Amino acid sequence: AIQSIRASQRLDSRGKPTVQVDLKSSHGTFRALVPSGASKGDYEAVELRDGDPSAFQGNGVTKACDNVNRILGPKVIESGLDPARDLKKIDELMIRLDGSADKSKLGANAILAISMAAARAGAAAQAVELYEFLAGEGASPVNEYVMPVPFMNVLNGGDHSGNPMAFQEFMIAPTGAASFAEAVQWNAETYATLKGIVQDKYGMAATGLGDEGGFAPPIGHPEEALDLLVAAIAKAGHEGKIKIGIDPASQSFFQKDGYNLGFKTGKPNILDAAELGELYRQLLDKYPIVLLEDPFGQDDWDAFSKFNESCGVELVGDDLLATNINRVKEAVQKHACNSMLLKVNQIGTVTEAIAAAQEAYSAGWSVFVSHRSGETTDDFIADLTVGLRTGHLKSGAPARGERVAKYNRLMDIEDDLQLRKVSVRYAGASFRSAHH
Ligand code: PGA
Ligand code: ZN
Repeated sequence: AIQSIRASQRLDSRGKPTVQVDLKSSHGTFRALVPSGASKGDYEAVELRDGDPSAFQGNGVTKACDNVNRILGPKVIESGLDPARDLKKIDELMIRLDGSADKSKLGANAILAISMAAARAGAAAQAVELYEFLAGEGASPVNEYVMPVPFMNVLNGGDHSGNPMAFQEFMIAPTGAASFAEAVQWNAETYATLKGIVQDKYGMAATGLGDEGGFAPPIGHPEEALDLLVAAIAKAGHEGKIKIGIDPASQSFFQKDGYNLGFKTGKPNILDAAELGELYRQLLDKYPIVLLEDPFGQDDWDAFSKFNESCGVELVGDDLLATNINRVKEAVQKHACNSMLLKVNQIGTVTEAIAAAQEAYSAGWSVFVSHRSGETTDDFIADLTVGLRTGHLKSGAPARGERVAKYNRLMDIEDDLQLRKVSVRYAGASFRSAHH
């Protein structure tokens, strides 16, 4: 049983406060820290911030911590629920205590920190690794584990950097590697090569990093970014074996009158959904792109459905779905996309995120696990992606400790499975169907 739950205010990778929870049981003390987005959608659960301008520009989370220490923690302990068996009931209890539809009363950040720490306590009580425990929660068959393809965001734009680029993320995906460790090596080599190319072309100052560890050179057109990636992949010797993913995060440049690709430049460049769709089609024709996330805004169902009719790549819903099972159901019914982005803090509990993933799987979709642009060194999502056999995840560039923490944990897991002689394979080119 749980003996104590304590929350403290700590920092995320942008220097903004976040919630840390230490949960103590007879098996040890288990810590979790929650991440935070920049290009957040309107359908996400609400992270509670103090709004007191005298501290951290209003971004403090002392109220959320108080809600853990005074309400959620005591009630969860009092319930006697055992995280090893009853993680879902613990989550349900917290959802009831909050009482709102979007966790705005006690805070999704407060609730999620307990949920993640409780999962770790549950794994320890069962004397299994977190990924094994989460596989059990997700009822994934565990006769074979699948290591994910790491989609690494090596060029940052949108709300994650200060360059003119409207599109937020350009990712490299080593689908041709033989193992996760080799995939990480290829990406790291390509990243280092890309740095040289960026420096030669745009100068030393252009090698500064965006929020997710990618470079942010002064480019504006997506073709400039994709040309850089293609050149880096070839020069690093991985042509044909590393594919590309893009997340324009188009909600962040959606305005009343359309999609403004000039939103960071002061010079409007507005496209309607059909024109934007045409731009995507040209990019998909020209470059080795295998994944496209949030090509349209969070309410642009028609544009999504129309594009999905003839889309040959993985079409991922992020702001569109917000890891919310009801949004997933609506999207399935509308044929709006074919993959769900999974961010635990969009919904605010571990078991609700898993339920949304299962809903996506049962529609024949894939699931893509994601970090947030504001992260911590908490590596929970590494275990989650293995536990749910999602076949791919994104955790930024192979740089910055909070990004690398996840990739390093995944290399630990791959080693651990091999040492224990548990069957494990690298998802590779079949990353979309790893679960099925
Ligand atoms: P965010 O970006 O964490 O800033 O929301 C990530 C994404 O859009 O996928
Ligand atoms: Zn996204």
